[in-house]
Amino acid sequence: MTRETWKTQVGFILAAVGSAVGLGNVWRFPWMTANNGGSAFLLLYLCIIVLVGVPGLLGAFVIGRRSKRNPVGALRSLSGGSRLWGAFGLLAVCTTVLLVSFYTVVGGWFVRYTAASITGGYFADPGAYFGSVNYGLPAFGFALLFLAATAVIVYGGVERGIERATKLMMPAIVVFLIALIAWTFTRPGSMDGLTFFLSPDLAYLRTHFLDILPAAVGQAMFTLSVGTGTMITYASYLGEERSLPFDATTIAVLNTAVGVLAGLLVFPLLFSFGLDVGSGGPGAIFVSVASAFSTLGLFGRVLGVVFFAVVLLAALSSSISMLEIPVAYLVDERDFSRGRATGVMAGVVAVGAAVCALDASVFSLFADTLVNLLMPTGLAGFLLFVGWVLGKNALSEYEAGAGPLGRALGSPWLLFVGVPIPIFLLFTVISRLLSTLG
Ligand code: PHE
Ligand code: NA
Repeated sequence: MTRETWKTQVGFILAAVGSAVGLGNVWRFPWMTANNGGSAFLLLYLCIIVLVGVPGLLGAFVIGRRSKRNPVGALRSLSGGSRLWGAFGLLAVCTTVLLVSFYTVVGGWFVRYTAASITGGYFADPGAYFGSVNYGLPAFGFALLFLAATAVIVYGGVERGIERATKLMMPAIVVFLIALIAWTFTRPGSMDGLTFFLSPDLAYLRTHFLDILPAAVGQAMFTLSVGTGTMITYASYLGEERSLPFDATTIAVLNTAVGVLAGLLVFPLLFSFGLDVGSGGPGAIFVSVASAFSTLGLFGRVLGVVFFAVVLLAALSSSISMLEIPVAYLVDERDFSRGRATGVMAGVVAVGAAVCALDASVFSLFADTLVNLLMPTGLAGFLLFVGWVLGKNALSEYEAGAGPLGRALGSPWLLFVGVPIPIFLLFTVISRLLSTLG
């Protein structure tokens, strides 16, 4: 059987952007920003995207395109059969299963809000509505709906399912966010939200640096889908020689733009409705946007349906990129058929989703703490692999298809991913561990 590849030139970049842009931008980014000091967090996060995220994406692309394998097979085959590296790849696959578990719960919240926009169910009191729907059996039911949609697309395979699903989503979400932001800025009080989000608070940054650093790093990894093997797997379907540095930069820019747009919407909205930023928790996006829609009557319902549905589409193109990892592993390494692999993994994820949907503290353990620990660990391992196992071979893979500027940056990149970035990532993991335990 020949391995599937992306059908069109743009297939890879569309799917990779589809994976990157998702609930991480619209939901997790405002949540983390609110929890970690607003503009101080934003500044740190942007630096990390540039200095760690883009080089990290490049590392994942190099591993994937060179090996043409899932993360486990990739690390094993490129290291000449090392069991240790194979096991590390398996850790990344397991991390992805954990991620998609809580992700489907949040996806379920968006399904719920799309439906509730039709009935106007959250109009009376968006804050109270969110509080009553976020955890429990109904929340699990909606998560299952979201998971079923994800599994159906993953089962459809790389080219038919994933490529097609991601083509519409980006332009739609950007247009929506911009239109809503424009409306928000006409509301009194919205400028305070802008200040909270944008005006750099260097004093806060200085005093809380070590507290917010792990969260900023974790969010940067999560939003770029890097450190779990997703980008390795997507690059493994690359047939032709694209410029990897160009693609990595494009993905980071588009993804960051959507996150910043989401922040420009959520914070001005929260302030203009007099809602407390800090206590919004993981519901900030719902409470703020739902509050806005509820003031607009019937028009608000239409807007609500379309807005939440568009975000759902973005969420799906991310969740399929998560579920694809364990499925590709079972197909490539364990001789599963695609159908059986998808069925088995959907079952496992359903259990994970149940655990997250039924208990708020388990949910935040997964969605906050574990993301901030496991994703940087995963990326540190991948980059050590690139720097120390692949070495010069990584450089020639990086250079294939790259333009002159990209090629000129190759050697510094290899040096950077081999030593300083892994040290930095492991430092944030350890400091987060110590602060969690202490
Ligand atoms: N990047 C996705 C988002 O921002 C989440 C994701 C993480 C997807 C890891 C795949 C792998 O929503
Ligand atoms: Na993202």
